[in-house]
This record gives sequence, C-alpha cells and structure tokens, in this order.
Amino acid sequence: MNLRLINIKQLGGVHPSNTTALRGKALDHFPFIENAYLTLLNGKIKDFGPMSQCPHDETPSKDLTGRCVLPAFVDSHSHLVYAGTREQEFNLRLKGASYEEIAAAGGGILNSAGRVAATTQEEMQRQSALRLNRLIANGTGTLEIKSGYGLDPENELKMLRTVQALNEVTNATLIPTFLAAHALPAWAKAKGMNDATYTRYMLEACIPTIKKEGLANFLDGFIERDYFKLDALTHLIEASAAHSLPLKIHVNQFYDIGGIQMAVRAGALSVDHLEVMRPEAIKALHGSDTIATLLPSCSYFLGIPYAPARQLIEEDALVALATDYNPGSSPGGNMQLVCNMACAKMKMTPAEALNAATINGAAALNMSDRKGSIAIGKDADILITKEIPSLEYLCYDFGTNHIQQTILAGQPV
Ligand code: NIG
Ligand code: FE
Repeated sequence: MNLRLINIKQLGGVHPSNTTALRGKALDHFPFIENAYLTLLNGKIKDFGPMSQCPHDETPSKDLTGRCVLPAFVDSHSHLVYAGTREQEFNLRLKGASYEEIAAAGGGILNSAGRVAATTQEEMQRQSALRLNRLIANGTGTLEIKSGYGLDPENELKMLRTVQALNEVTNATLIPTFLAAHALPAWAKAKGMNDATYTRYMLEACIPTIKKEGLANFLDGFIERDYFKLDALTHLIEASAAHSLPLKIHVNQFYDIGGIQMAVRAGALSVDHLEVMRPEAIKALHGSDTIATLLPSCSYFLGIPYAPARQLIEEDALVALATDYNPGSSPGGNMQLVCNMACAKMKMTPAEALNAATINGAAALNMSDRKGSIAIGKDADILITKEIPSLEYLCYDFGTNHIQQTILAGQPV
C-alpha cells in the first residue's frame, strides 16, 4: 500500500532517526513540521517534509487540511488480556473498602484469576479483542500485554497464548510479558510456598515453554510489601539474565521496599508505577537507562498518589507513560486521557507527555528502532487527528476521542 498524506497541519514526533529515548530538557520538545506531507510505502514511512518539498509523482494522496498527524501511541504497560470484569469491587471501594482490603478478602487479582481459569482461550481472546479495538480507535498502535491472572503454569501460558493468537489477527503490534509473580494463590499457600518459592516455581515451570513457543519478550513481578518482596525479585533477576528476558517490574505502588534500587542495579529495562518514592529511589533513577514508566490512570482510579514525574524528569530519569489497562486498578486504556492526566495531575508539559507516550514508550519495549516517531524506515503506525488547532490540544481537551483514523503497518484500521 502506497499513500501520501498532504497538507498536514502539524506532523509531530519527527525526531532524528537515531533517537532512542528522551530525558531532561529534550523530553520537553515534541518536534513537528507545519504544513507537511508524509509518504507511506509497504508498511513503512518512506519520506516526509514540508509541503514546499512535496514530490510530484503518481503516489495516491489524501488531503488532510486542518488535521494533524503523529506516531501511534506505544502503551508499554497493560494487562489487556483477562476474563470478566470487577465493577462490583469498584462499588465496594466507593463504600469505603480499600484496594488492599478487597485483595486480602480474596478479591482483586485472585478474583480475576478465578475468572481466567474458568474461561477458554477463545473466549478470553474474544473479550480482549473488543477492548483492543477500542484502544486502536483511540490511537494505540503498539501495546505490551502481561500475563499474571493465571497464577498457575497452565493458566499463565493460556494468557500468553491468547496474546499471541490476538497478535496474529490484528494490525496493532502486541508485545507479551510473562508476569510470573502477581499474587500468591491459595494452592501455593496450601503447598507451603511463600512469595519467593512460588516465584521460583513459576519461573522454572513456565520459561521452557515460553522460550519454545516464543510466548514472552519480558519478565515482570509485583514487588510490594504485601505481595512479592526482594527475595522474589532476586529470582526474577536471575531468570532474566539466564534466559535473556529483560525485566519490567511493578514496584513502589503502595510501599517503597527498595525494589527500584535493586532493579536498576540489575539493569531492568523499566520500573513501573512509582507512586510511592523515597528520595533514594528517585536518586537511583538519576541518569539511568532503566525507564520510569508512570501510570497516572491507576492513581486516578484508586485514589493513590501520582508518581513524582517532575522530580524524575529533573533527575534526568527516562520517563514513559502507559495505561496499566486492567480490571482492578485501571479499567481504561485511553492514551489520550493518560496524557491529559499526566499534564493535569503530574504537571508534565504536553510535549513531555506526547514524547513519553510515543518514543519513550517504544524504548520501554526495546522498540525505538521501529516505533514511536516519524522517521524514514520506521513502521507506518500513525494517527490522523480530527480537525484540532494543534498537537498539544490532544493533551488539553480531555474525554473525547480526537483521533479520526489510526493507520497501522500502513493499513487504515
Ligand atoms: O498494575 N499492581 C499490580 N497489578 C495491577 C493491578 C492488578 C489488579 O488489580 O487486577 C496493576 O495495577
Ligand atoms: Fe500493571
């Protein structure tokens, strides 16, 4: 497919092609070309520039007067694949129960695990595809998806196979992560396992199949005072190194138990959440290549603190934004809304938010060479907006969908 978009009001995210991730002052610049063209060929970006340099050839063109174009969002942290929903728990929380109290009473992650176990892969894929289609319509082009509601080898692998099957039938790019340690299930407690021994068991039981079937690119665990502590993280770090599965770690959501320092020392690709940060944790991310992935819609929905985005940016940390789409703490996956929350609640600038949701999201999946910016040779994953005054407007006028069309791998979706 060959297509030239012409008279683009603003073509944004035009970073130099060797850009991998942005930090500090560079994050606050979302470069764009005013009155631009963009050519897509065979699923890749062929060329782009100001209209004054637009080639005159046979390429079919589409006039985008009044509309903007930017790279599709890269949502580098989600739990899109699950079965059933948990709006009953939302009701309980509104009546005063805390997320942790609901979890301690067998709700939360364990509730979702029961539903996953009772649902076939085909049905789970059907439910997840409905969510995925809504995300694509809202501008997501690349989406990381974690397992973690299986809580036994059979069901964790079922979740990862669901991601794989869904990836085969969508133009979006789905990146699977094995969330080996999410909650300690009753069967493991009955066998006398603790958080660390369960983690080791799950890693040993699942990784051979994951490797054989290519079911995961990354490894994750929920490192928290009441879930999986630093001994469990040690097992994750060892498995990551032994099997070349880079770490993306849930950490510092409710308590700071030193997980960030340990993950950074181990060279984790990303540390995610970061709502509760002691000064040492922030310092550990100073100038680090480990990406700080912030999830403002989780803070919004649970009513917990927002991650200290400004401090992290000032410390020269690499900051990415993602949705954490899941049935418990963030039952929504709209990256436009996440960008708005990042600005309104964490005081990121619109330019910072757009970069964190595109190029830095790509970096948090080791995909900067293919995704997250407008550069020659990158995947033709782009968004055409409705008529809006500027790219920054995407972060400002919240709650409506400003995307008119998502084009993924050069194909209009
Ligand atoms: O990232 N924090 C751990 N896991 C998910 C929520 C899990 C759930 O409530 O189902 C999260 O917020
Ligand atoms: Fe999460």
